[in-house]
Amino acid sequence: MQKKMGQILIVDDDEDILVAGKLLLKRHFADVQICNQPQQIPQLLSDKSFDAILLDMNFGPGESSGQQGFHWLQQILQLDPQAVVIMITAHGGVDTAVEAMKLGATDFIAKPWQNEKVVATLSSAVQLGQSRREASSLRQTNKLLTSSSISGQVILGQSAAMAAVMSLIQRSAPTDANVLVLGENGTGKELVARELHAQSQRSENVFMAVDLGAVSESLFESELFGHKKGAFTGANEDRVGRLQAAHGGSLFLDEIGNIPLHLQAKLLTVLAQRQVTPLGANAAIDIDVRVIAATNVAKSQLTDESRFRQDLLFRLNTVEITLPPLRQRPEDIQTMAEHYLALYAKKYAKAPMTISSSALLKMQQYSWPGNVRALRHALERAVILADSNELTNKDFQLELTPNQAGEMVSSAVTQPVAVSNSATGEHFNLERIEKDTIEQALKIHRFNISHAAKALGLTRAALYRRMEKYGL
Ligand SMILES: Nc1ncnc2c1ncn2[C@@H]1O[C@H](COP(=O)(O)OP(=O)(O)OP(=O)(O)O)[C@@H](O)[C@H]1O
Ligand SMILES: [Mg+2]
Repeated sequence: MQKKMGQILIVDDDEDILVAGKLLLKRHFADVQICNQPQQIPQLLSDKSFDAILLDMNFGPGESSGQQGFHWLQQILQLDPQAVVIMITAHGGVDTAVEAMKLGATDFIAKPWQNEKVVATLSSAVQLGQSRREASSLRQTNKLLTSSSISGQVILGQSAAMAAVMSLIQRSAPTDANVLVLGENGTGKELVARELHAQSQRSENVFMAVDLGAVSESLFESELFGHKKGAFTGANEDRVGRLQAAHGGSLFLDEIGNIPLHLQAKLLTVLAQRQVTPLGANAAIDIDVRVIAATNVAKSQLTDESRFRQDLLFRLNTVEITLPPLRQRPEDIQTMAEHYLALYAKKYAKAPMTISSSALLKMQQYSWPGNVRALRHALERAVILADSNELTNKDFQLELTPNQAGEMVSSAVTQPVAVSNSATGEHFNLERIEKDTIEQALKIHRFNISHAAKALGLTRAALYRRMEKYGL
């Protein structure tokens, strides 16, 4: 059986409703609490957070104005602006319920209720509650990331090319223009997307990233647009799509170059109409999002209409920001290296470190096929393994010429990253085999992370995690 989710609170003065509601909802949700005195709401909310709250409009016999419902709704929203509140209203009280929705209630249920309808309404409420919470924690994370240089998330680089990028960000961020970010793997596309959001008028709202490379074709629509329960086999509950969850904020469509043509058409329709219709739903939902898209696919492929719809491209690239590969801006390397050196020395509790001038020169001459991400990893690895406070050439393993980029990885293998393979027979060490396989896939796909991940049957995030783990 599927694991039940959702914390629900029912507040009603009618014991029958509370008992019936609890009995019904317990079967579908993880936790159902009941309360017959609205005065207890503040205490309950301070004890735990609920994904959805069912709130009666009237407390006490003879009450029908709905005033108490309004009062408690406002109290709840003041305590928890993310709360998802569903009003319970007597038959005929629809007008007051609509009034409540204007005040911030999410939906209403009319008494006497139909069990199925209640479960369906609450399932979407729980989903919405969870995405709101996710969104709000993302918001907090975003703030942290943009405000703290300790996270290593500042955009570094004084090269003319990066200065031009920064200026484009500054000029386009405050507008609602869609931005397309282009660049090889690891050049900082996501970093730029987050910066655009941070400098935008939507910065207080969600930054929702969707990795289109990781969404399977069959789940594309459900993931992006959402679905209604029963829309297809396996759709056991309503689901809020990513686009809807991004409402009011920025939607980061990562790896846009990898989606097949027929799905490009669907995406285009939604972006053009600014509305989504969840699978199985009969009404469209308005969405207000600012779209930032990114791809590591070369511009020449994007303008090839047999691969990419040009009308979609025009919708996405009102502003285009191209991040140059690191090898074209060697003047940025010193700043970045010093930044990451300090960051990792601190992280791994090492004394302050320096880089020898010959090692720095070599770094500036190296081709960096994995761009800034690889530079960052190289520094992390060097800091961990270094036996002196000055990092030298031997700490970096960058001996090979640019066009032997793929080989760099295998030279790194022979320098095991403090991972011990000695405990088990070398040939049967699963970690070793996994690492080798990943390296091969990376090489074959010339460090195209999406392709390598696909070949390995992993998501990009899972591949990155393993690359970090093995120091690749
Ligand atoms: N200009 C920069 N200054 C500082 N750090 C950077 C810069 N560019 C990239 N990085 C760092 O490099 C890493 C990769 O950046 P990011 O994930 O934004 O790249 P990407 O272009 O989205 O890569 P991919 O195509 O592989 O998804 C991150 O750790 C990021 O912080
Ligand atoms: Mg990325």
